[in-house]
Amino acid sequence: MTSSTTIALSANAWAEPSGTATALLLLGRGSDAGSERGVDCPGTLPSPSDPNLVARAHAARATLGERAFILGHHYQRDEVIAFADVTGDSFKLAQLAAARPNAQFIVFCGVHFMAESADILTSDQQAVILPDLAAGCSMADMAGIEQVQRCWEVLDDAGIAENCVPVSYMNSTAAIKAFTGEHGGIICTSSNARRALEWAFSRGERVLFLPDQHLGRNTAVLELGMSIGDCVVYNPHQPQGGLTPRQLRNARMILWRGHCSVHGRFTLDSVSDVRKRIPEITVLVHPECQHQVVLGADLVGSTEFIIATIDAAPSGSSWAVGTELNLVRRLALKHPDKHIVFLDKTVCYCSTMNRIDLPHVVASLESLAAGNVVNQIQVDPTVSRRARLALDRMLALP
Ligand code: 13P
Ligand code: SF4
Repeated sequence: MTSSTTIALSANAWAEPSGTATALLLLGRGSDAGSERGVDCPGTLPSPSDPNLVARAHAARATLGERAFILGHHYQRDEVIAFADVTGDSFKLAQLAAARPNAQFIVFCGVHFMAESADILTSDQQAVILPDLAAGCSMADMAGIEQVQRCWEVLDDAGIAENCVPVSYMNSTAAIKAFTGEHGGIICTSSNARRALEWAFSRGERVLFLPDQHLGRNTAVLELGMSIGDCVVYNPHQPQGGLTPRQLRNARMILWRGHCSVHGRFTLDSVSDVRKRIPEITVLVHPECQHQVVLGADLVGSTEFIIATIDAAPSGSSWAVGTELNLVRRLALKHPDKHIVFLDKTVCYCSTMNRIDLPHVVASLESLAAGNVVNQIQVDPTVSRRARLALDRMLALP
């Protein structure tokens, strides 16, 4: 480590390293035009070792009262979930944000694309707050709007854009959601991907699925009965996506080459390994996992499905769960009568979800309580209107 990147420690706080790209990603300061998030996170954070942090959070929360509504995604840390008014997966949180018109502040403990969606679904009088503006999503970053526009031109050149319906995972930027709305498409989450694809295939011959290739492939093959051969992968880093016009015309699912940096790391070896270690185990994974992993598992479903399945499991049953570690750990603590293990020994927390910690929550709540709106996520009105078309189509799914 050179002296310019050395992270200095003081008794109370991390000192800011000098402005390297790595430093920006580590500490969420400055700006990063190449990412889906704005990473400038101004203001002073309380020290993580402040013994009054919990009391400060309670006091600020009490001052805000009904004016604030705190949403917590299931992958958030325990210290953050403790202050959430509601918890949920991305679909449930989008619904809950939309159903809370009287809350002046929607404090979104999740990641940037979720806060953007909440801003799109709430009124102009409401402010959506992301406690750490650097809490982005690497999967959402894998589909830039210029890349997607270029892809559409490639589909047009192959003569298939007209009959192609974009289906975009919630885990995408507002710009991608707007593109989807504009082109007659729909948003989906892992809870409703099957229904969204059925909706799309009733309107077109092909689907461009953005940005998670695994959710797209798993849903198309395992839930809609397509073959692997019906799917092609569009690589935005290769000319024409690395595909010939013929390959595009022969495909039914054009999968964007994106993945989740957490779920994408589970392997079939981890499934075999846990089965050897715990013979009676049931393996339950999220559909963002690779297709081979899902094929090797016993059950696959969204975060809400995973929670409901474990809640309903008989006492004494054994489970290996392939999703974010905070959630798996909380499930294990909640059900001491069940044997719940994390599917892999090396996969770690979602680093961007984990950027939101108690100091960031305290800083946001105290600022709001003092009348200072910080870390607001505001989607451009035109983008918002177009994205809303695609989100409303999802919310209207049967
Ligand atoms: P869900 O909340 O839709 O299950 O998605 C998981 C995820 O990776 C969120 O970032
Ligand atoms: Fe993005 Fe994966 Fe983290 Fe979800 S778990 S926020 S998809 S990187």
